[in-house]
Amino acid sequence: MLLFSVLVAECSPVKPKRSALNQLTRTLLRKYDCGVRPVHNWTSPTTIHIDFILQSVLDVDGKTQSITTSIWYRQVWTDEFLVWDPEEFDGINEISLSSDAIWIPDVIISELVNEGRSVEIPYVYVNSSGSVRNYRPMQVVLACSLEMYAFPFDKQNCSLTFRSWLHSVKEIDLALWRSAEAIANDKREFMNDGEWELLSIPSHYWHMHQDDTGYAHIQFNVLIRRRPLLYVVGLLIPSIFLMLVDVSSFYLPLDSGTRIAFKISILLGYTLFRVNMMDEFPATAVRTPLI
Ligand SMILES: *[C@@H]1O[C@H](CO)[C@@H](O)[C@H](O)[C@H]1NC(C)=O
Ligand SMILES: *[C@@H]1O[C@H](CO)[C@@H](O)[C@H](O)[C@H]1NC(C)=O
Ligand SMILES: *[C@@H]1O[C@H](CO)[C@@H](O)[C@H](O)[C@H]1NC(C)=O
Repeated sequence: MLLFSVLVAECSPVKPKRSALNQLTRTLLRKYDCGVRPVHNWTSPTTIHIDFILQSVLDVDGKTQSITTSIWYRQVWTDEFLVWDPEEFDGINEISLSSDAIWIPDVIISELVNEGRSVEIPYVYVNSSGSVRNYRPMQVVLACSLEMYAFPFDKQNCSLTFRSWLHSVKEIDLALWRSAEAIANDKREFMNDGEWELLSIPSHYWHMHQDDTGYAHIQFNVLIRRRPLLYVVGLLIPSIFLMLVDVSSFYLPLDSGTRIAFKISILLGYTLFRVNMMDEFPATAVRTPLI
């Protein structure tokens, strides 16, 4: 009988105690409405702190006037409804929550023409004082006015303007997370071995006024310079050489029969060179490169 009761006691399903993490998530999200801006007093704006790290410049396309970049984007804001006392929940100070379950600001990039192959990150990080951190890597295709006249010695200036598409500055305000100087000179993550060299990323904050309401904008200007070595070796030096041969061929004696044949060979050489090099030139419609 004793043995039997011991067996029954061991096999009977014990209701597992909920983990502190589970309890905390349930407590936070029980009455949460993800469609409402998380402030107690509706007159106080939510400030979104923005940070941005350029990782690489993947493509610069003169024909479509667009630039493809890979960036690490971070936004941090305070959610007044996601606040708890760590003492009550086993000392938990930070948790990750599903980004579908909470309010996310509608901050977008104005110049965005195509969101390339970006990875969806389904979580955000929240700490006990309600600070929400939303970090994601993005591949973005931006519209940018490219100036190719000085190719291959050109510099480009492409801007990324972050703004809330709908909310005015009374509801959503923007700010930089790090100082402007720190962002401007941050080249740690930039893949510096490609064709483009990162000069700096100056940024500024401004309001756009439309129908008596202000909209907060933060603009980053990405300044990049092309490394010309490849084009100097593959394009400039061969064409200078061909030109020198062409000019010096005028010194051939007029009555020698090879002169005309030589000139025609040079002409053929030019044509072949031009056809081969067509792909190397940036295609632009308005101002063609000086070269
Ligand atoms: C909201 O904040 C404003 C300004 O700080 C204050 O005048 C107002 O009384 C507050 N409203 C409530 C309901 O607390
Ligand atoms: C939560 O994060 C914010 C910003 O990262 C920080 O200022 C604050 O001290 C953190 N709070 C706690 C309780 O760690
Ligand atoms: C880059 O472009 C922006 C906006 O078009 C302009 O305000 C800024 O002065 C430019 N920067 C440089 C270095 O040309």
